[in-house]
Amino acid sequence: MSNNTIAVVYHSGFGHTKVLAEEVANGAKEASEDVRLISVDDVDDHWDDLAEAKAIIFGSPTYMGSVSADFKGFMDKSSKVWSEHGWKDKLAAGFTNSASYSGDKLNTLVQMSIFAAQHGMAWVGLGLMPGNNTSEGSPEDLNRIGSYLGAMAQSNADQSSDIVPPQSDKDTAKVLGKRVAEFAARIN
Ligand SMILES: Cc1cc2nc3c(=O)[nH]c(=O)nc-3n(C[C@H](O)[C@H](O)[C@H](O)COP(=O)(O)O)c2cc1C
Repeated sequence: MSNNTIAVVYHSGFGHTKVLAEEVANGAKEASEDVRLISVDDVDDHWDDLAEAKAIIFGSPTYMGSVSADFKGFMDKSSKVWSEHGWKDKLAAGFTNSASYSGDKLNTLVQMSIFAAQHGMAWVGLGLMPGNNTSEGSPEDLNRIGSYLGAMAQSNADQSSDIVPPQSDKDTAKVLGKRVAEFAARIN
């Protein structure tokens, strides 16, 4: 076991959030030699990985203005860990993706941050200034959606995960992964 293990736990119904999860993991690998990418579909094989991680980064598409049912299933299953305060003092962060620019996806990150707080984890925000909010900005900017709580992405509803989310959102996700891993490296 590494002393800077970073876990990325995500759900993706149609592949778009999975692309982001991979970018978060790629970013984390820039500051950690042990990054574990875990789908909630397989989480029952990975509770030990989560126990070993110094940081857990949560990812879910926004479905009906909240985390997906599959991700919520993972949250509810984690109540056993919660009862033992098993993730206390780990770092946490989150990312989400939806079809609309807003799509109420802030609520998804709020849910994740409350979930982390219930576990006694310390939430790490995105740490980027908002992009694409001046006359000189563009959709190619990092953090083009202007999130602070975590990384947000937008994927047109009629386009596959080969095409969307756009590169700027993938790069923003990568920044989040690197930031969390760098924070984790700074603490014991
Ligand atoms: C059941 C369902 C509910 C959705 N609800 C929202 C929503 O509230 N806001 C939004 O902007 N997009 C919504 N979408 C669109 C998805 O967030 C979008 O297609 C996203 O890219 C899916 O990610 P995935 O491929 O990782 O599942 C919804 C899609 C589904 C299937």
